[in-house]
Amino acid sequence: MLQRSNIVSPEEELQDFYAQLRAQHVTPAWISGGVSTEPKSKAVPYVWHWRDLRPQAMRAAELVGTEQAERRVLRLHNPELEGSSASNTLVANIQIVMPGEIARAHRHSPSALRFIIEGQGGYTVVNGARIPMFPGDLVLTPNWTWHDHANGTDAPMIWLDGLDTPLVRMLEAGFYEQYGEEAQPVGEGADPSLAKYGVGGLRPAWEPAPTARYSPLWHYPLSQARVALERLAAEGAGSPFDGVILEYINPLTGGPTMPTIACYIQLLQPGEHTQVHRQVCCTNYHVIEGSGYSLVGGQQLDWEDKDVFTVPTWTFHEHVNTGNRPAFLFSFTDAPVMKALDLYREEAKG
Ligand SMILES: [Fe+2]
Repeated sequence: MLQRSNIVSPEEELQDFYAQLRAQHVTPAWISGGVSTEPKSKAVPYVWHWRDLRPQAMRAAELVGTEQAERRVLRLHNPELEGSSASNTLVANIQIVMPGEIARAHRHSPSALRFIIEGQGGYTVVNGARIPMFPGDLVLTPNWTWHDHANGTDAPMIWLDGLDTPLVRMLEAGFYEQYGEEAQPVGEGADPSLAKYGVGGLRPAWEPAPTARYSPLWHYPLSQARVALERLAAEGAGSPFDGVILEYINPLTGGPTMPTIACYIQLLQPGEHTQVHRQVCCTNYHVIEGSGYSLVGGQQLDWEDKDVFTVPTWTFHEHVNTGNRPAFLFSFTDAPVMKALDLYREEAKG
């Protein structure tokens, strides 16, 4: 009969064996801890309040120029993660560009998004396309696209940066390159990607559809998203877990904005308290406007306008709008990575 073997060895002999293995850079798997039955993130639920972040962003703008700092960025770091990132695979950072400043052109293999928090119309140039940036707008600078930022207004520009740098670093796939000039030459058109792909269901017929896996649309104005959310809210549509939630999509595929990052915007009605669920993906949230709290893994994260909070993977969460106005949340996740690798799961509580 076949059965599990029952070999018992003296401790001394085992330790001697293990020492030999260590010297050969080999580790016996049976002594290095048990199997985990489900994901347990090292990251913890956490909220960064705008009332703390904004003064420090302004202070950074006083102390450090964009010549010294390639990007004047404050990284929000999760209290329990070793690197300086808000979540396991995605960073959530605050970047500030002051009036008259540029941040010079470069490109990198990590993909990035910008969600505009404050400003009166600075711009980002992505592969020669000039993209205006207004509060609440989502701007993409996908994998290996040249990008530089500029603020020709007389007000500070502050935005949330979302990048997949921790993931790319873990995969050891990071490339970076400096552009030959400080800024890229700007091509034709006031906002060309929006002109070509910004109206649902239509695309230019005189040129082939782009073949890149990221979205050809690089600017998603808040004005459009807000209209869509309010129209659905008026019809009583939405998810019991997230209220009226819309995904920003690649208009050519219906898929996520970029291969590694999915972006969402949601509306929670005054008094709304969502049901509880969890997913295999980490999520960083930015409160566009509104006030309330989220219960994340049993912890209460109070939030209001412009705060940032993080929900680690496979952590139960629910959202409550305690205000008397609709709450609008922007969020981005690594769900496309999980789905591409067949690792994604979702579960409702109860
Ligand atoms: Fe960059």
